[in-house]
Amino acid sequence: MEIIILPDATTGGAYAARMIEKLVRNKPKAVLGLATGSTPIPVYQNLIQKHQEENLDFSQVTTFNLDEYLGLDPSHPASYHSFMREHLFSKLNIPQSQIHIPDGLAPDIEAHCAAYEAAIVKAGGIDLQLLGIGGEGHIGFNEPSSSLTSRTRVKTLIPRTREDNKRFFKPEEAVPHHVLTMGIGTIMEARTILLLAFGDGKAEAIARSLEGPLTARIPASILQMHPKTIVLLDEGSASKLEMKDYYRYVYEHKETTHSIHREENELLS
Ligand code: GLP
Repeated sequence: MEIIILPDATTGGAYAARMIEKLVRNKPKAVLGLATGSTPIPVYQNLIQKHQEENLDFSQVTTFNLDEYLGLDPSHPASYHSFMREHLFSKLNIPQSQIHIPDGLAPDIEAHCAAYEAAIVKAGGIDLQLLGIGGEGHIGFNEPSSSLTSRTRVKTLIPRTREDNKRFFKPEEAVPHHVLTMGIGTIMEARTILLLAFGDGKAEAIARSLEGPLTARIPASILQMHPKTIVLLDEGSASKLEMKDYYRYVYEHKETTHSIHREENELLS
């Protein structure tokens, strides 16, 4: 894992968008794994700006979202379909046929999950998977105790996640108990994983994921086993990391023949 501690979420969003831009410019048919929640919003804002002002073309890109609520209509304002439309897809030029989000209303959920997995394979696999992290260490909606080799399937949300996500629903609405999510095994097959976490509220989950033992109690801890995971943090989310000075040291002494790092350093200077 490469752990990068940045000044704030704005810088983190710019950094992540720059990585995605580099991928899409080098590989116009890139396959992106996308996430919802407040964390990726600055990334999406930067991508929209690059599309509108710097000719970043998404017309050949294919996307797969991590998750969706079970039983929620795609037009519901709190659905992840609505979220993605509002924060990204309505402002980019990705053809609808290249956008994939699990369908919470699919009549045959098992078949739908299997087809979702097959579509990822058919697209050539995910080049870059963007991830946020839940307060209890979930990735996608893979809650604690999820099998670390799981595939796309239905999961039951833990009370804390329902509480955290209440803000996206009207006060009189109940947050669904069930969701569809890419599995941990599915996520782990992405060629590059970009995990973003900002703010003190994520400090405990980040410390346990990056420095704790690998355990289904903290699903994101599986990322320790991934060959290319980059973690973008701010001071708040990094605050409980025992080795944070070491991560800063490693980043400062990064060998600069790796162009991505040279360019990112320029971006940050
Ligand atoms: C949601 C999503 C996750 C996301 C997480 C954190 O439950 N399913 O993919 O990473 O919560 O959300 P936020 O970025 O708003 O903190």
